[in-house]
Amino acid sequence: MKIIAVNDYEELSKVASKIIIEKVKNQPDCVLGLATGGTPEKTYQLLIEDFKRNATTYQNVNTVNLDEYVGLPNNHPQSYHSYMFHKLFKLLDLKSENIHMPDGMVSDLQEECKRYDMILDHLNYPDLQLLGIGSNGHIGFNEPGSPFSQKTYVTTLSESTRLANARFFNHLDEVPSHAITMGISGILKSKEILLLASGESKAKAVKELLVGELDMNFPASALKSHKHVTIIVDSLALKEVRKIKDIELSEATCGGHEI
Ligand code: F6R
Repeated sequence: MKIIAVNDYEELSKVASKIIIEKVKNQPDCVLGLATGGTPEKTYQLLIEDFKRNATTYQNVNTVNLDEYVGLPNNHPQSYHSYMFHKLFKLLDLKSENIHMPDGMVSDLQEECKRYDMILDHLNYPDLQLLGIGSNGHIGFNEPGSPFSQKTYVTTLSESTRLANARFFNHLDEVPSHAITMGISGILKSKEILLLASGESKAKAVKELLVGELDMNFPASALKSHKHVTIIVDSLALKEVRKIKDIELSEATCGGHEI
Protein backbone atom coordinates (compact mmCIF):
# COMPACT_ATOMS: atom_id res chain seq x y z
CA MET A 1 0.00 0.00 0.00
CA LYS A 2 1.31 3.40 -0.90
CA ILE A 3 0.45 6.04 1.69
CA ILE A 4 0.38 9.71 0.79
CA ALA A 5 0.29 11.89 3.89
CA VAL A 6 -1.14 15.36 3.34
CA ASN A 7 -1.78 18.25 5.70
CA ASP A 8 -5.50 18.66 5.44
CA TYR A 9 -8.73 17.94 3.60
CA GLU A 10 -8.00 20.55 0.91
CA GLU A 11 -4.69 18.96 0.02
CA LEU A 12 -6.19 15.46 0.16
CA SER A 13 -8.85 16.53 -2.34
CA LYS A 14 -6.27 18.13 -4.66
CA VAL A 15 -4.07 15.04 -4.69
CA ALA A 16 -7.06 12.71 -5.20
CA SER A 17 -8.51 14.78 -8.03
CA LYS A 18 -5.10 14.94 -9.71
CA ILE A 19 -4.83 11.13 -9.67
CA ILE A 20 -8.35 10.71 -11.11
CA ILE A 21 -7.81 13.36 -13.81
CA GLU A 22 -4.52 11.72 -14.83
CA LYS A 23 -6.32 8.37 -15.09
CA VAL A 24 -9.05 9.83 -17.32
CA LYS A 25 -6.51 11.60 -19.53
CA ASN A 26 -4.31 8.52 -19.91
CA GLN A 27 -7.23 6.14 -20.37
CA PRO A 28 -10.23 8.10 -21.73
CA ASP A 29 -12.43 4.98 -21.79
CA CYS A 30 -11.64 3.94 -18.23
CA VAL A 31 -14.13 2.65 -15.67
CA LEU A 32 -14.21 4.82 -12.56
CA GLY A 33 -15.53 3.29 -9.35
CA LEU A 34 -17.06 6.06 -7.26
CA ALA A 35 -17.98 6.60 -3.62
CA THR A 36 -20.37 8.97 -1.87
CA GLY A 37 -20.21 10.46 1.64
CA GLY A 38 -18.55 13.60 2.93
CA THR A 39 -14.97 12.72 2.04
CA PRO A 40 -15.01 12.80 -1.80
CA GLU A 41 -17.17 15.95 -2.08
CA LYS A 42 -14.27 18.36 -2.57
CA THR A 43 -12.50 15.92 -4.90
CA TYR A 44 -15.63 15.94 -7.08
CA GLN A 45 -15.72 19.75 -7.03
CA LEU A 46 -12.13 19.78 -8.27
CA LEU A 47 -12.96 17.35 -11.09
CA ILE A 48 -15.74 19.73 -12.14
CA GLU A 49 -13.40 22.76 -11.99
CA ASP A 50 -10.87 20.91 -14.12
CA PHE A 51 -13.59 19.90 -16.58
CA LYS A 52 -14.64 23.55 -16.95
CA ARG A 53 -11.12 24.92 -17.15
CA ASN A 54 -9.28 22.21 -19.11
CA ALA A 55 -12.14 20.38 -20.85
CA THR A 56 -10.99 16.96 -19.64
CA THR A 57 -13.62 14.78 -21.24
CA TYR A 58 -15.59 11.95 -19.61
CA GLN A 59 -17.50 11.07 -22.77
CA ASN A 60 -16.06 7.57 -22.93
CA VAL A 61 -15.75 6.99 -19.21
CA ASN A 62 -18.06 4.52 -17.47
CA THR A 63 -18.82 4.97 -13.79
CA VAL A 64 -19.94 2.39 -11.25
CA ASN A 65 -20.95 3.41 -7.77
CA LEU A 66 -20.24 1.39 -4.68
CA ASP A 67 -23.63 1.47 -3.06
CA GLU A 68 -27.15 2.78 -2.64
CA TYR A 69 -29.58 2.80 0.26
CA VAL A 70 -32.52 0.40 0.10
CA GLY A 71 -35.91 2.13 0.11
CA LEU A 72 -34.93 5.69 -0.80
CA PRO A 73 -36.37 6.81 -4.15
CA ASN A 74 -33.67 7.92 -6.60
CA ASN A 75 -34.89 11.53 -6.31
CA HIS A 76 -34.76 11.53 -2.49
CA PRO A 77 -32.24 14.24 -1.50
CA GLN A 78 -30.18 11.73 0.51
CA SER A 79 -30.19 8.90 -2.03
CA TYR A 80 -26.80 8.26 -3.55
CA HIS A 81 -28.40 8.70 -6.97
CA SER A 82 -29.23 12.30 -5.99
CA TYR A 83 -25.83 12.86 -4.42
CA MET A 84 -23.98 11.71 -7.53
CA PHE A 85 -26.25 13.48 -9.95
CA HIS A 86 -26.08 16.87 -8.22
CA LYS A 87 -22.48 16.78 -7.04
CA LEU A 88 -20.86 15.27 -10.13
CA PHE A 89 -22.74 13.63 -12.98
CA LYS A 90 -24.80 16.57 -14.23
CA LEU A 91 -21.69 18.77 -14.20
CA LEU A 92 -19.48 16.57 -16.39
CA ASP A 93 -20.00 15.33 -19.96
CA LEU A 94 -20.64 11.71 -18.97
CA LYS A 95 -23.13 9.80 -21.12
CA SER A 96 -26.14 8.79 -19.04
CA GLU A 97 -25.94 5.23 -20.37
CA ASN A 98 -22.39 4.99 -19.01
CA ILE A 99 -23.47 5.77 -15.43
CA HIS A 100 -24.18 2.69 -13.31
CA MET A 101 -25.56 2.54 -9.78
CA PRO A 102 -27.41 -0.12 -7.82
CA ASP A 103 -31.14 0.58 -7.51
CA GLY A 104 -32.41 0.29 -3.94
CA MET A 105 -36.07 0.69 -4.94
CA VAL A 106 -36.64 -2.46 -6.98
CA SER A 107 -38.97 -5.14 -5.62
CA ASP A 108 -36.46 -7.95 -6.17
CA LEU A 109 -33.24 -6.86 -4.50
CA GLN A 110 -31.50 -10.19 -5.11
CA GLU A 111 -32.09 -9.83 -8.85
CA GLU A 112 -30.76 -6.27 -8.62
CA CYS A 113 -27.54 -7.54 -7.02
CA LYS A 114 -27.16 -10.03 -9.89
CA ARG A 115 -27.86 -7.31 -12.45
CA TYR A 116 -25.19 -5.10 -10.89
CA ASP A 117 -22.62 -7.90 -10.85
CA MET A 118 -23.34 -8.55 -14.53
CA ILE A 119 -22.60 -4.88 -15.27
CA LEU A 120 -19.39 -5.05 -13.25
CA ASP A 121 -18.37 -8.25 -15.06
CA HIS A 122 -19.22 -6.71 -18.42
CA LEU A 123 -17.14 -3.60 -17.68
CA ASN A 124 -14.38 -5.76 -16.23
CA TYR A 125 -14.47 -3.88 -12.90
CA PRO A 126 -13.13 -0.38 -12.16
CA ASP A 127 -9.79 0.70 -13.52
CA LEU A 128 -9.67 3.06 -10.56
CA GLN A 129 -11.90 2.61 -7.52
CA LEU A 130 -12.31 5.54 -5.13
CA LEU A 131 -13.08 4.57 -1.53
CA GLY A 132 -13.79 6.29 1.75
CA ILE A 133 -13.55 4.42 5.03
CA GLY A 134 -16.02 4.12 7.88
CA SER A 135 -14.75 4.67 11.41
CA ASN A 136 -15.53 0.95 11.94
CA GLY A 137 -13.38 0.06 8.92
CA HIS A 138 -16.19 -0.43 6.41
CA ILE A 139 -15.49 0.07 2.71
CA GLY A 140 -18.51 0.48 0.48
CA PHE A 141 -21.15 -0.70 2.91
CA ASN A 142 -19.25 -3.84 3.79
CA GLU A 143 -19.65 -3.78 7.52
CA PRO A 144 -17.46 -5.69 10.02
CA GLY A 145 -17.93 -9.43 9.58
CA SER A 146 -18.59 -9.28 5.80
CA PRO A 147 -16.77 -12.15 4.10
CA PHE A 148 -14.08 -10.98 1.67
CA SER A 149 -15.54 -13.33 -0.96
CA GLN A 150 -18.82 -11.39 -1.08
CA LYS A 151 -20.15 -10.12 -4.43
CA THR A 152 -22.82 -7.37 -4.61
CA TYR A 153 -25.38 -7.96 -1.86
CA VAL A 154 -27.94 -6.41 0.46
CA THR A 155 -26.23 -5.38 3.67
CA THR A 156 -27.61 -4.36 7.05
CA LEU A 157 -26.08 -1.08 8.12
CA SER A 158 -24.43 -1.14 11.53
CA GLU A 159 -25.69 1.26 14.19
CA SER A 160 -22.37 3.18 14.06
CA THR A 161 -22.77 3.67 10.29
CA ARG A 162 -26.39 4.82 10.67
CA LEU A 163 -25.32 7.22 13.42
CA ALA A 164 -22.43 8.57 11.31
CA ASN A 165 -24.75 9.12 8.34
CA ALA A 166 -27.55 10.63 10.43
CA ARG A 167 -25.81 14.00 9.89
CA PHE A 168 -27.19 14.00 6.34
CA PHE A 169 -30.79 13.32 7.46
CA ASN A 170 -33.25 15.19 9.73
CA HIS A 171 -33.42 12.32 12.19
CA LEU A 172 -31.68 9.00 12.87
CA ASP A 173 -34.97 7.18 12.22
CA GLU A 174 -34.85 8.37 8.61
CA VAL A 175 -31.49 6.68 7.92
CA PRO A 176 -32.22 3.46 6.01
CA SER A 177 -31.34 0.19 7.73
CA HIS A 178 -30.20 -1.57 4.55
CA ALA A 179 -28.20 -0.87 1.43
CA ILE A 180 -27.04 -2.61 -1.72
CA THR A 181 -23.28 -2.61 -1.86
CA MET A 182 -20.54 -3.91 -4.08
CA GLY A 183 -18.97 -6.71 -2.08
CA ILE A 184 -15.33 -6.83 -1.11
CA SER A 185 -14.53 -9.36 -3.86
CA GLY A 186 -15.84 -6.88 -6.46
CA ILE A 187 -13.88 -4.02 -4.94
CA LEU A 188 -10.71 -6.12 -4.96
CA LYS A 189 -11.16 -6.84 -8.69
CA SER A 190 -10.51 -3.14 -9.37
CA LYS A 191 -7.18 -2.63 -11.08
CA GLU A 192 -6.25 0.27 -8.82
CA ILE A 193 -7.77 1.51 -5.54
CA LEU A 194 -7.59 4.99 -4.05
CA LEU A 195 -8.78 5.30 -0.45
CA LEU A 196 -9.30 8.71 1.17
CA ALA A 197 -9.29 9.25 4.92
CA SER A 198 -9.73 12.66 6.49
CA GLY A 199 -10.31 13.88 10.02
CA GLU A 200 -9.85 12.65 13.54
CA SER A 201 -12.90 10.37 13.42
CA LYS A 202 -10.93 8.15 11.00
CA ALA A 203 -7.68 8.05 13.03
CA LYS A 204 -8.33 4.68 14.72
CA ALA A 205 -9.46 3.08 11.46
CA VAL A 206 -6.37 4.38 9.63
CA LYS A 207 -4.10 2.99 12.33
CA GLU A 208 -5.84 -0.40 12.13
CA LEU A 209 -5.55 -0.35 8.34
CA LEU A 210 -1.84 0.41 8.42
CA VAL A 211 -0.69 -1.77 11.27
CA GLY A 212 -3.40 -4.43 11.71
CA GLU A 213 -3.69 -7.89 10.17
CA LEU A 214 -6.17 -9.17 7.55
CA ASP A 215 -9.37 -9.44 9.57
CA MET A 216 -12.97 -9.96 8.47
CA ASN A 217 -14.04 -7.77 11.38
CA PHE A 218 -12.12 -4.87 9.86
CA PRO A 219 -13.28 -4.88 6.21
CA ALA A 220 -10.71 -2.35 4.93
CA SER A 221 -7.94 -4.78 5.88
CA ALA A 222 -8.93 -6.74 2.73
CA LEU A 223 -7.05 -4.04 0.80
CA LYS A 224 -3.81 -5.47 2.15
CA SER A 225 -4.22 -8.32 -0.33
CA HIS A 226 -4.45 -5.94 -3.33
CA LYS A 227 -1.34 -5.00 -5.33
CA HIS A 228 -2.21 -1.42 -6.25
CA VAL A 229 -3.69 0.55 -3.36
CA THR A 230 -2.96 4.19 -2.59
CA ILE A 231 -4.20 5.75 0.62
CA ILE A 232 -4.36 9.52 0.91
CA VAL A 233 -4.61 10.50 4.53
CA ASP A 234 -4.56 13.90 6.24
CA SER A 235 -2.74 14.74 9.43
CA LEU A 236 -5.79 14.40 11.70
CA ALA A 237 -6.56 10.96 10.33
CA LEU A 238 -2.87 10.01 10.76
CA LYS A 239 -2.81 11.11 14.37
CA GLU A 240 -2.75 7.61 15.88
CA VAL A 241 -0.13 6.40 13.40
CA ARG A 242 2.30 9.19 14.11
CA LYS A 243 2.58 7.77 17.61
CA ILE A 244 3.95 4.54 16.16
CA LYS A 245 7.72 4.68 15.99
CA ASP A 246 8.45 2.38 13.06
CA ILE A 247 6.37 4.30 10.50
CA GLU A 248 8.30 7.31 9.31
CA LEU A 249 7.46 10.01 6.82
CA SER A 250 9.73 10.24 3.79
CA GLU A 251 10.09 12.35 0.65
CA ALA A 252 7.10 14.36 -0.63
CA THR A 253 5.18 13.03 -3.64
CA CYS A 254 2.26 14.68 -5.49
CA GLY A 255 2.01 17.40 -2.90
CA GLY A 256 1.91 14.97 0.02
CA HIS A 257 4.40 12.80 1.82
CA GLU A 258 4.69 9.19 0.86
CA ILE A 259 5.15 6.94 3.87
C1 F6R B 1 -20.01 5.67 0.39
C2 F6R B 1 -19.40 4.52 1.04
C3 F6R B 1 -18.92 4.57 2.44
C4 F6R B 1 -18.21 5.88 2.81
C5 F6R B 1 -17.81 5.86 4.28
C6 F6R B 1 -17.14 7.15 4.70
O1 F6R B 1 -20.37 5.36 -0.94
O2 F6R B 1 -19.32 3.51 0.44
O3 F6R B 1 -18.03 3.50 2.65
O4 F6R B 1 -17.09 6.04 2.00
O5 F6R B 1 -18.94 5.65 5.07
O6 F6R B 1 -18.08 8.18 4.64
P1 F6R B 1 -17.67 9.70 4.85
O7 F6R B 1 -16.84 10.09 3.67
O8 F6R B 1 -18.98 10.44 4.89
O9 F6R B 1 -16.92 9.76 6.14
